[in-house]
Amino acid sequence: MTLSIRPLDPVSRPFFGGEVSGIDITKPLTREQAAAIDKGMDQYGVLVFHGQHFDDETQLAFSRNFGDLEEASGDLNWGKARRIASPLVNDISNLDNDNQVMARDSRRRLFSLGNRLWHSDSSFKAVPAKYSLLSARSIPSAGGNTEFADMRAAYDTLDDDLKAEIADLICEHSQLYSRAQLGFADFTDEDRVRFKPVLQRLVRIHPSTGRKSLYLASHAGTIVGWPVPEARALLRDLIEHATHRKFVYAHEWKQWDLVMWDNRATMHRARPFDPKEVRDMHRTTVACERSTMAEAA
Ligand code: OGA
Ligand code: MN
Repeated sequence: MTLSIRPLDPVSRPFFGGEVSGIDITKPLTREQAAAIDKGMDQYGVLVFHGQHFDDETQLAFSRNFGDLEEASGDLNWGKARRIASPLVNDISNLDNDNQVMARDSRRRLFSLGNRLWHSDSSFKAVPAKYSLLSARSIPSAGGNTEFADMRAAYDTLDDDLKAEIADLICEHSQLYSRAQLGFADFTDEDRVRFKPVLQRLVRIHPSTGRKSLYLASHAGTIVGWPVPEARALLRDLIEHATHRKFVYAHEWKQWDLVMWDNRATMHRARPFDPKEVRDMHRTTVACERSTMAEAA
């Protein structure tokens, strides 16, 4: 078996979204295999692997090929009892600690609906996420897609005046901002301290490809030095542009898919499904090496 990657949509988006075959990523990788996956990530931004029967331990081992892993400290219940033992595994499910589907009005469930807004993982942390790896352990009978937007293509298609205007802008990101958009404000004082806004550049240069991309997320609540409404109006316009369907790949999950994306070059969002059905996804996250403020501008 040799690893190969084919574009998921060779006609409309030949450079965004790839499907990988010829590899069992639940087993240890060779250095060459890990390098080929990194190269595929640089090219496609999102890679899909089918039929990968992960448990948390094998998912963590695969993820470690690509850098240091982040703690799941963006969870609302961080520091409290969790359903998943490892602090390095994000619980992207609708299950409570007894493995029961969460009640419709559960605080944790309502907080997690923030994933329905376009975002880039952990942009609310000073050092945000590089890759996210999401493993589908259990999926609903319908719905629950994940959509991905190509933020390199989004940047490239801005007009030159707008590129010049945004070149050096810096945004404040916080989970308080993304949740406020949904009318969720059920935060403790402790949460508010933990989710204190951090600064991120609006335009990033990818360290391996040198390509520029828009670093946007619903966590971005304002632009440093700008009046808030004006900042939000611009951020909304940019997100609207960046998520035009021509830039979007919609992933329809099969059980045991593993989807890996580069948060430096993409945004993503969850799509709705029947809240009475189980959707159990486990996410591991590779951290960036530095904050965007310390990256080359
Ligand atoms: C995530 C996420 C979307 C989904 O895991 O970071 O945003 O469809 N998931 O569950
Ligand atoms: Mn996410």
